[in-house]
Amino acid sequence: MNILISTFGILLMGFSPLWAKQVIIPVETSGKSLVLMVGHSGELFHKYYGDRLQTPEDILKDIVADNRRDMTFEAYSTFGKHNPFEVAFKATHADGNMTTDLRYQGHETQKLDNNRVLISISMKDDAYDLHVVLNYLAYQAEDIIESWVVIENRENGEVVLDNFSSFDLVVKEKEYWLSHYYGAWASEMQLEEERIGKGIKIIDSKKGVRTTQSENASFMLSLNHPAEEEDGEVIGGALAWSGNYRLCFQVDSLNQMHITAGMNPYASAYHLKPGDSFETPKFIFSHSSNGKGVISRNFHRWARRYALRDGNTPRPVVLNSWEGAYFDFDEKKIEQMISDAASLGVEIFVLDDGWFGNKYPRNNDKAGLGDWQVNTSKLPKGIGHLVDYAAKENIKFGIWVEPEMVNPKSELAEQHPDWIVSRPHREPILMRQQLLLDLSNPDVQEFVFKTVDDILTENPEIAYVKWDANRHVQNWGSSWLPADRQSHFVIDYTRGLYSVYERLNTKHPDVILQVCSSGGGRVDYGSLPFHHEFWTSDNTDAWSRIYQQWNTSQFYPAIAMASHVSANPNHQTKHVTPLKARFDVSMTGRLGMELQPADMTPEELKYSKKAINTYKRIRHIVHQGDLYRLNSPYRENRAALMYVTPAKDQAIVFGYVTRFHSRNDYMTVKLTGLNPDKTYKVTEINKVDPKKKLFTGSGKTFSGDYLIKRGVQLKIRLLHESAMLEVLEVK
Ligand code: DGJ
Repeated sequence: MNILISTFGILLMGFSPLWAKQVIIPVETSGKSLVLMVGHSGELFHKYYGDRLQTPEDILKDIVADNRRDMTFEAYSTFGKHNPFEVAFKATHADGNMTTDLRYQGHETQKLDNNRVLISISMKDDAYDLHVVLNYLAYQAEDIIESWVVIENRENGEVVLDNFSSFDLVVKEKEYWLSHYYGAWASEMQLEEERIGKGIKIIDSKKGVRTTQSENASFMLSLNHPAEEEDGEVIGGALAWSGNYRLCFQVDSLNQMHITAGMNPYASAYHLKPGDSFETPKFIFSHSSNGKGVISRNFHRWARRYALRDGNTPRPVVLNSWEGAYFDFDEKKIEQMISDAASLGVEIFVLDDGWFGNKYPRNNDKAGLGDWQVNTSKLPKGIGHLVDYAAKENIKFGIWVEPEMVNPKSELAEQHPDWIVSRPHREPILMRQQLLLDLSNPDVQEFVFKTVDDILTENPEIAYVKWDANRHVQNWGSSWLPADRQSHFVIDYTRGLYSVYERLNTKHPDVILQVCSSGGGRVDYGSLPFHHEFWTSDNTDAWSRIYQQWNTSQFYPAIAMASHVSANPNHQTKHVTPLKARFDVSMTGRLGMELQPADMTPEELKYSKKAINTYKRIRHIVHQGDLYRLNSPYRENRAALMYVTPAKDQAIVFGYVTRFHSRNDYMTVKLTGLNPDKTYKVTEINKVDPKKKLFTGSGKTFSGDYLIKRGVQLKIRLLHESAMLEVLEVK
């Protein structure tokens, strides 16, 4: 790779010798450099992260050898050294020594392919046989770096890991502005943007399961001033882990920002026997000198190529039964929903919760969870019949499962009380009337695998599985783990879950998998490699989704963001929203429906059929295009965004009003994602009244330059008004 050829004059393959001199290690992508330096002492420091340096070796000319300020820029900070700060790593050795002092051993560079270069830096404690390899995987085209750490205990005694971050970075700028995304059930991914002064800010989850319901494991850190969409210096990052996590931001007395990210050490001390090693999850990060939009587009491109299952395959339109039927259905009703969905042009019908349990029928959330046999009084002909029925109607069939959970009122709880996560000698705390199965236990992993595998093996035509998880950990305690390994529970649980996903995906590679956890409780890059999409939120209200999807899109791509048109008034918020607005919002993600079609009027059915058809025509732009967030709903009570193909020859623009604007106060949207040198025809689509124009220039041709600089004027100003434009290059 010419990065290294230009830096060292040779391509380093295999471990290089211990460097007596200061040595720099640049981790580079096409546009960025992260520069590390080995000091005289063998310690490793961060020297730079930003736009790509032409001559990173110049850093060596400007170093006051290992001075005290440099010491605070350790590349992987450890406990008991220079830093009285939050550190990336802390371990306790068998003799009780809690300190670690890592020294450089060598580094290895591997060119994995034309786009990926992996740099592994080998470190060793200077007094103990504890080894740490710092890995940086650089994705050239996407300007993304992944960092993770492998810790190996080659000592004679056990080492206990107390803190084991995946990522550590120190930056020094004038000001720091942090954007992060907090939430709760039905209001996930709410934006919080704040200035971080001296002290510590921690974003974490201690829930064990459903960890992104309250805070997402991602952030944008703007340097010096709050960044705009296309302006300002930003570092954005996300952790690929579905268990407890911790993102820590500490500003020290020199105004240096120390960022560490990784698994949450909370109640998670991890023991390594001699010879054991521990790999941390990956932390993915990117840098932009031109605002947050660049970070989002980098993440989306990277995710579609590397982090999302089948990221380049178009996603089908889904109708999910939950809000249309809840637990109240029988065979006739499901057949009717399947037929109606098919006639709307929907491609997959998904049967949600309530189809199983006989001794304890699942007619509400109080019973039956864990008993994965079809409920023969509700569905006497079984799931196979519905799959066949769907096939006859020319639509695919999908099914909901929640295999990690159990109702106390179930045959499973009667048969396997030892599989339930519980606090010894204490009453179990129930949440949604249910308890958690202990996925740290291989027998439980086997049960969960078999539950889903049996359904898919018996019904090979099932095309889609919605995998739900509706509670988090409160009853800390595993009857599988020994007394001195109880603190491994939440890490082993998540690893157990991933191993089940892995086995299922290998055996059933063509089944689409949706990750859901009471809505958006598992929207993270740990889950996504096993899934095609996530259920963004149980809040299906279009108005709320404008904000939630705006924030979800900061890191997660549209192709994975399930967004369903639901009934009026909305079941969660009671908002009444025009059907057009519901479609215009849902069409910015993976479009679906979440209602009973039999309750719709003939006009609504007609409009829906047309909108679904339009979506099928334009979905490649939404699924594979680059996102530009144009008008922020946090700024002007209206929002606009666009998706544009990489060739910039096709684009779709969406505009929404989120609060009343007075007469003539229309909306200007500058289409910054276009090519100024191309010519485009702009046409309004998804219209209700064919005669009414929300964009007076609809059907006309404009230069890209004009559309970028002056933009389009959308005649929308009343609450819930919305518009959608198709922009096509004219050659
Ligand atoms: C929570 C999910 O988010 C909903 O979509 C639905 O599947 C229910 N669980 C079913 O219990």
